[in-house]
Amino acid sequence: MKHELMKLPFEYDALEPHMSKETLTYHHDKHHQTYVNKLNELVIDSKFEDSDLEEIVKKADGGIFNNAAQVYNHDFFWNSITANETKMSSELEKKLIENFGSVDTFKTEFITKATTHFGAGWVWLVADANGALSIVTTVNAACPITTGLTPLLTCDVWEHAYYIDYRNVRPDYLTHWWTLINWDFVSANTAKI
Ligand code: FE2
Repeated sequence: MKHELMKLPFEYDALEPHMSKETLTYHHDKHHQTYVNKLNELVIDSKFEDSDLEEIVKKADGGIFNNAAQVYNHDFFWNSITANETKMSSELEKKLIENFGSVDTFKTEFITKATTHFGAGWVWLVADANGALSIVTTVNAACPITTGLTPLLTCDVWEHAYYIDYRNVRPDYLTHWWTLINWDFVSANTAKI
């Protein structure tokens, strides 16, 4: 099957000033598109030729895994942000308090892990099989669905996510990114665990 580049769920200038049109043009149209193109090239004549994206991420390794996981991770990342005002559900708020002590503590822990993650990767709010929430970071293309975790929210901390707008200052990117979180998406994911 042919994998397609997901359309952004907002206009290219909708997230300004927090995330610029130029960043979105490079990040989505160049970086994300390249992962989609490479994945489509690599699956030809492989055992994953007819597999859907999640199955490839769970079962592949090497270049096929890296490109498939980067497609999955970026799809999840675009859905995790929005230009709209959103509010977390009471269920999500309750779970964050249960698991982290308070919503503020969750935010501090998430930002700290995102700031201190060395090199390229991703920061995730995930649920385990028992419904317990935690914050995990993954290196390069790695994706928590390969270890049985359910992603609820992700932040891309590859330099290509912020270098145009914030140069090397990842903490500034994270402060602005936080204001874009699509709590409706995170709440909907939480309702399914
Ligand atoms: Fe990215």
